[in-house]
Amino acid sequence: MKLRNRLVAVVTGVTVVALAFSFVPLYILVRALETSDLDHALFRQATALAQHLPGTYAAGHPLDEGHADVPESIDPTPRYTAVYGPGHELETASESFDGRAPPSLEALGLRRPVPWDGVAVDLEVGDTRLRGVVMPTGDQGEALLYAVSKSTVEDDTATLFELLLAIFVFAVGATAVIARILGERLARDVHSVARVARLVAEGDLAARLGDPRTMGADETRALASDLDHMISRLDEVVSSQRRFISHAAHELRSPLASLRGELQLALRRDRTAEEYRAALTEMLSSVDALIALAEDLLRLARAQGGAPATRARARVADVVREAVRMARGHDDDRGVTITVPHALAEFPVEVRGAAADLARALRNLIDNAVVHSPPGGEVRIEVVVVESGVELAVVDQGPGIPVEDQPHIFTPFFRGAGGENQEGAGLGLAIARGLTEGSGGRLALDTRHTGGARMVLHLAFADPGSAP
Ligand SMILES: Nc1ncnc2c1ncn2[C@@H]1O[C@H](COP(=O)(O)OP(=O)(O)OP(=O)(O)O)[C@@H](O)[C@H]1O
Ligand SMILES: [Mg+2]
Repeated sequence: MKLRNRLVAVVTGVTVVALAFSFVPLYILVRALETSDLDHALFRQATALAQHLPGTYAAGHPLDEGHADVPESIDPTPRYTAVYGPGHELETASESFDGRAPPSLEALGLRRPVPWDGVAVDLEVGDTRLRGVVMPTGDQGEALLYAVSKSTVEDDTATLFELLLAIFVFAVGATAVIARILGERLARDVHSVARVARLVAEGDLAARLGDPRTMGADETRALASDLDHMISRLDEVVSSQRRFISHAAHELRSPLASLRGELQLALRRDRTAEEYRAALTEMLSSVDALIALAEDLLRLARAQGGAPATRARARVADVVREAVRMARGHDDDRGVTITVPHALAEFPVEVRGAAADLARALRNLIDNAVVHSPPGGEVRIEVVVVESGVELAVVDQGPGIPVEDQPHIFTPFFRGAGGENQEGAGLGLAIARGLTEGSGGRLALDTRHTGGARMVLHLAFADPGSAP
């Protein structure tokens, strides 16, 4: 069933039930109140009449016709009176009965003796429907019937019925129309959301719902803006993946192209064994570069993909020692030295993360620092305990990172000015950041530090609250 039709059916159904449950009791109550008012007036007037009845008529004589006092009636209302004898048989009746007064009280449906305070009855005279009361007037079963036409009560209740029916029909109709309009609006919003979702699924990442104010309800407005936001994020992710792939392809192409060049050169003419060996050695270094790049790409994919490994823990001293061991500094022929804090070996603190990941992240920072250091320079590793963990800083004496490069250094394949000639692929910092964040830590450049670069790894304590 369509959303719109379902909404119309439900809302209209609820309105019908709600109105029926309020109008029917209202109608019954008003009718009962009017009848009770009329009975009350009839009892009062019948009692007054019954008191001086014996002196004012003789059996067989017609009674005074007169008028009754009926509540809410403007016109004079003719009264119907009849007197019944000890055997409940009719003795005399007013002319208003036109000779058709009930011949006995039994004809009115009264079997037992009439109660001392009277009883109300419904009766019909010709086409006229009457409401009356029967009052006892003597000890032998004599009684007086005092009645009037029921038309005031019936007219009132009929008017009320027509009024309630008109309200009912109007309310139900109006509700159905409003529900239909609302349903159409809602369905339109849902259709627009579905259309955009379909376009995105088909690959159109430029599809948007646009201005959410055109949506009818707050909820659909929120949904529209969330969906647009999600598509924008998706677009960014897909674009960055595309950039990544094209950069990776580009980086792979350079060593492959040089390998190809070397192969062509080697094949151009016959060579001595010595020359072949030299050519092969060169090719081997190109292949090594390719393998290193492939490993870096794999490492980056892994570092960026995983959820933080929260349970692993590592000793800070081990991390630093391993990173320095792996770093390039040792075979650097420019005489760059790497220094670590004196008492590092006794430093007992443990941090969150796997030692191998953290050491690799730190090693990438040390590699950069060594590469950018002047000959004979010093790369200093600082270990600082802060409130929530440990900071490992790598400080060098190089030129530092230009302000315009700073926002980009963690982007894969970014290399600073002159970087195209460097041997790196621009993946080191991206990998380091991925590994650090994967261990629940943070990596940032200390922008307040002057003279050389200072990169800071912030690692969380393995046991929170275990600060030394
Ligand atoms: N200590 C530093 N001093 C000056 N510039 C730096 C330093 N560390 C990083 N950079 C700049 O940031 C860029 C990105 O560094 P990153 O480590 O990601 O790549 P890379 O060192 O060029 O290559 P790779 O690390 O993949 O071998 C570098 O090209 C360089 O311009
Ligand atoms: Mg690097």
